[in-house]
Amino acid sequence: MTDALLIHGGVGWAEPPSFDMDALISGVDMEKGAVTAVIQAVSILEDDPRFNAGTGSIPRIDGSIQMDAAVMANGNFGAVIGIEKVKNPVQVALSVMNDSPHNVLSGDGAIRFARMLGFEEYDPMTPETRKRLEKLISDVKAGNPENNPRLASFSSRIDPKKLIGSDTVGAVSRIGNRFAAAVSTGGVFPMMRGRVGDVPFIGCGFYAGEKGAAVATGIGEEIMKRLLCYSIYSRMGKEDLEDILRDEISAFGENVAGVIAITLDQEASYANRNMAVGKRLKHP
Ligand code: GLY
Repeated sequence: MTDALLIHGGVGWAEPPSFDMDALISGVDMEKGAVTAVIQAVSILEDDPRFNAGTGSIPRIDGSIQMDAAVMANGNFGAVIGIEKVKNPVQVALSVMNDSPHNVLSGDGAIRFARMLGFEEYDPMTPETRKRLEKLISDVKAGNPENNPRLASFSSRIDPKKLIGSDTVGAVSRIGNRFAAAVSTGGVFPMMRGRVGDVPFIGCGFYAGEKGAAVATGIGEEIMKRLLCYSIYSRMGKEDLEDILRDEISAFGENVAGVIAITLDQEASYANRNMAVGKRLKHP
C-alpha cells in the first residue's frame, strides 16, 4: 500500500496560498512511521511564520501568545492547552503522550513539563504579529473600535462568524497501515487570554484510529459543537471519504471550517474557504 502524508496550513486565506505546500514536506522522513511523519510535518509548519502556529502564532488581546497542539496514534493521544514560550507545541504534545502519565497538560503545568524535558524558552512573536497587536492596542486606546470592525464585534459580543480562524496547521498520515494525526494553532483573532478552541480536544480538532485519521481547521467554537473529527471518523469505511468531508463541512454554513483526512484507501481535503493543502505519497 502507498504511504501518504497530507498537511494543511489552515482555512480562511483571503487568496489561495501561492507557495508550494507539497515542497514544504519533501524532507519529512516517511521511513520512521506515521507518528514521526506528522510530528515532523507539523513542526515544519510551526517553524514557518506564514502560519498561525508556533512561530507566527496570533497574539491574544492582552498581547500574550498561548498555543494549543495535539497528536494521536495507536489508541493514544497527547495535547497541550495554552502553552507559552516554546518553539514547537506539537513536540510537547508528543511528550505528554509518550513521557507523562496524562493525556492533556495546560498552562503553567504544560510549560513546566516542557522545561523539565529540555524544551527551551522561545518567543514565537514575529514582527508581523507584533504589528497586528500594536494596531489592536492603538484602536482600543483611541476608543475607536470602529477602526477595527473585528474588535467592534468582539467588544459587543463574540460572533463566531467574525472570528478569523485561518492558518492553523495539521497533518494526517498512513504509513504501513498505521494512522496518525497532529495539529497545532495560535488560535483565532481576536480572542481573550484563556480561550481554547477545538485543537486540543479529542474528536473535535483531531482523531486517529484503525480506520483512518482526520484533523480540522477553522473556528474552534463551531468545530467543537459538532465533534467534527470523530463524526468524520465514525463514517469512514462506510462511505466515500470525499462525500463524508463535503457533507460534514457543508453543515457549517457560513462558519469557516476545513478538514483533511485519510483512510486505508483514500486521502481527501475539503473546506468552505480557501485552504492550504499539501501531499506526499511514497509508493512501495
Ligand atoms: N481551529 C483553531 C482554533 O479555533 O483555535
